[in-house]
Formats: sequence, C-alpha cells, structure tokens
Amino acid sequence: MKLSSIPENFMWGASTSAFQVEGAYQENGKGLSIADIRSFRNSEKQLDTKVTSDFYHHWEEDLLLMKELGLKSYRFSVSWTRIFPNGDEEKPNKEGLAFYHKIIDRLREYNIEPIVTMYHFDQPIGLVEKYGGWVSRQSVDDFVKYAKCLLEEFGGKVKYWLTINEQAVMVVASDMLGIDKDLPIQERFCKAFQANYHMWIAQAIVFKMCREKFPDSYIGPAVSYITTLPATRKSYDMMAAKELEDFYSFAQMDVAVKGEIPYYFTNELDKLNFKLQTKPEDVRILQEGTANYLGVNWYCTTIVESKRDVPEDQFIFLRFNRIRDNDLLYTDWGWNFDPIGLRYGLRQLMDRYGKIPVVITECGWSEKEEIEDGQVHDPVRVDYLKGHIEQMNLAMKDGVNVISFNPWSFVDLLSVGEGMEKRYGLVYVDRTDFETRTLKRYKKDSFYFYQELIHDNKH
Ligand code: BG6
Repeated sequence: MKLSSIPENFMWGASTSAFQVEGAYQENGKGLSIADIRSFRNSEKQLDTKVTSDFYHHWEEDLLLMKELGLKSYRFSVSWTRIFPNGDEEKPNKEGLAFYHKIIDRLREYNIEPIVTMYHFDQPIGLVEKYGGWVSRQSVDDFVKYAKCLLEEFGGKVKYWLTINEQAVMVVASDMLGIDKDLPIQERFCKAFQANYHMWIAQAIVFKMCREKFPDSYIGPAVSYITTLPATRKSYDMMAAKELEDFYSFAQMDVAVKGEIPYYFTNELDKLNFKLQTKPEDVRILQEGTANYLGVNWYCTTIVESKRDVPEDQFIFLRFNRIRDNDLLYTDWGWNFDPIGLRYGLRQLMDRYGKIPVVITECGWSEKEEIEDGQVHDPVRVDYLKGHIEQMNLAMKDGVNVISFNPWSFVDLLSVGEGMEKRYGLVYVDRTDFETRTLKRYKKDSFYFYQELIHDNKH
C-alpha cells in the first residue's frame, strides 16, 4: 500500500487513555475519579478500572512493543487523580508525576512523540462530591491548576497537548460528569450544558497559557467527530443531519478554533428555556484562548432522518431518528464501517478551518476476540485500518493538513460502555471481564499489518 500524499515526518501512532488501560487504581497515592466510580457500579456485569490491562506495571513492555511496531507517536492521557488525588490539593502527588516522566522519557528515547491528553473522562470524584464537578464554576480553577502543573512539569518535553477528550460525549452521557442520569431530560441537559460551558472556559484559559509559555507547542481539544449523513436526499433529512452534526461535533470545534459560541448552539439552548450562567470576562477568555490544532476522534458515520412531525421548537435530540444502512458492515455494537465518511469528514474540516493541523486521535474497530495458538486473527480490523488510511491519504491529497493518525487502541483495554468484551487493540491482552489471567501481550494480525505499512511508507 503506497500512500503518496503522506509525508516522511507523518506521525503514525496509536492511542489509549489512563483509566481504560492503567489499572493500579489506588497505587502510589492515586485518588478515585468519576470514571472509577462509574465502572464500580457495573463491576458485577463487566470489568472495572481496578486492573484493566495493567499498563501501570506493563508500561515498559508496551512501549517496547510500540518501538517494535515502528510508532512515531503515542496518544495517551494523564490520570488527573494520580496528580491531584482529590482534585483540590495545593501540591501535586510526586509519585504520580514521576510515573509520567518515566513514560515520556522512554517515548523520547524511542523517538515516539507523546501526544498527551490532560483529561479523558476522569475528573476527581472528590470535586464532584465537593461541589458537583463541572456543573460548578469552581471546576474551572481546579482544572486550570491541574493543567498548569502538567505544563510546568512536562511542557519542556511534550509538544502536543489535548485538553479535554470528547466533551460532547460527556454531555450526552451526563453521568460521566456526575449528573444524575435519571433526572428529567430538561433538568439533566441544563446542568450538562452549564458543565459544558465551564469546560469551554477552562480549556480556553489553558490554550492561552500553553501557547504563551510554549509558543512551539500545539494544543487543542480531542473532539468526538461524528460525521452525520442524511438518510435520503430530501432537504428535511439533510437539514436534520446538518443540525445534529453542527450541534454535536462542530460546536466543540467552532468554540475551540474560532473562540465564540455559535448561533446554532445557543438557539438550541433557548429551546430548553435555558440561559447559561456566564461572567462578563468570558467573551474575552474564549477569544483569547484558541486551539492551534484539532484532535479528532473518528470511528464511523451516523445516518439520520428527520422526525418531521416534531416541531422545530423542540430540542435537537428529539428531532431525528438514527437509521441503519444495510449496505454497510456494523460492529456488534452498531458502529458502521464507512471509510469514505472519513475523507468526507476531513474535507468538511478543511472547508471550515482551512489548513489547521489535524491529528486523528482515535479511529478503530471493535470485536469480540479469542486467542488461538498464540495468534489473534483480526481481518476486519486490518480492512478497517487499510480503508481509513487510504481515505485519509486521499483527503491529504485534497489538501487536508493531517499530521498524525492514532488508531484506537494500542493494546486491548476497558471499553467505556462494554468492558473487556469489546476489544479494539492492535495488541491482545490476555484477560477477560472477570478473569485477570496472565495479562500477557500478543501481537494481532493488525499489529503486523500496521508495522509493514509504516515501514513501507518511510520513503
Ligand atoms: C471514544 C473515547 O468515545 O470512544 C474512548 O474517547 C472510547 O475512551 C472509545 O473507548 C470507544 O468507545 P467504547 O464505548 O467502545 O469504549
């Protein structure tokens, strides 16, 4: 597979996040996060965060495997509660910092560029219990303190930063923000959108701080970009697709890149009769703190039709149905295989934001998998990677400034929704939801495929 539009310095990478891969959930001073607590609620049904793939104790082996694969970047997150166990401490936990120093130093030694997410679904539960987490403006200060600490500690050796992973996902699944999911929908969303607003303010402050202190660095959000397609070519379905895509995905990118909240977003909040609580300085904060690159998590397309009987003054999430396209392949969990959607989505990013650098921070295919004679055959994942990389190459030929591709995930890990049964890794981890087993790593066919592809595209 020759990829003529991909330059020599392209960062071929892979991706994980702390609570999904590290385990050691209370080791060396780590506190508990909302991600831990959510997972414990499901401990009877599936794997929780206590051990997961035990990266905390297998990191050397895993980084060696990354080197063997030929990775040029590794996108991972810092566990907020390893650094500030309760969230409100004055001083960080030194053992937590030491762990990430070891990781970053070893990556540098292997010439693998660290792409570091500050917050991936794991706000300290201490802050949620103390004042309701992101729903309170106090979270802005606590996040900024944490981000400042990371920048001061690692800013000299990390060039690529991501502030917040998939804010829109947390708004929709609002118990990820500590908001009771059984609240009436209107009340739940009002809290979630206030929390969303506080995250925008916090990330803008951090964007500015990082760009001032480290002018050569790149900082942006990691956005869940669900490229949304109309079920038919009727204008009402096209409008439904556009409105949902704008509201869910582009609002996050518009605020981060353009520094202001778009009209289509506030229009929807009006439908909830909700007025954001703001401060006069916020307009300036958003304008002064913008992203200089975009992290984009891209898995599949979503196909929607308009619910034409629902009046326009109803909130967006009530105005469409999701449609299954029987011409496409789907995972067992309903995520489609639609690589041209990636090219289309990337082109839309260029239309909207020009040549801004784009890092594909996640892209992956999930399967239930078993190991046989030390081998894991994952032909669909190989096809998925092949198809998406080909389409990314075409998008780059079109002019989209993609600088890195990081499939989700490097090793098998705890899926947010489905525990260990739903595997994404290029590397198999020998454990199941309820048995820890050996935790040994096995290279899947997709590992070898990706290794060869990276090698062949060295130029
Ligand atoms: C993204 C998240 O939403 O999708 C990851 O950033 C997550 O943390 C991934 O694992 C896949 O979702 P799931 O529910 O299959 O784990």
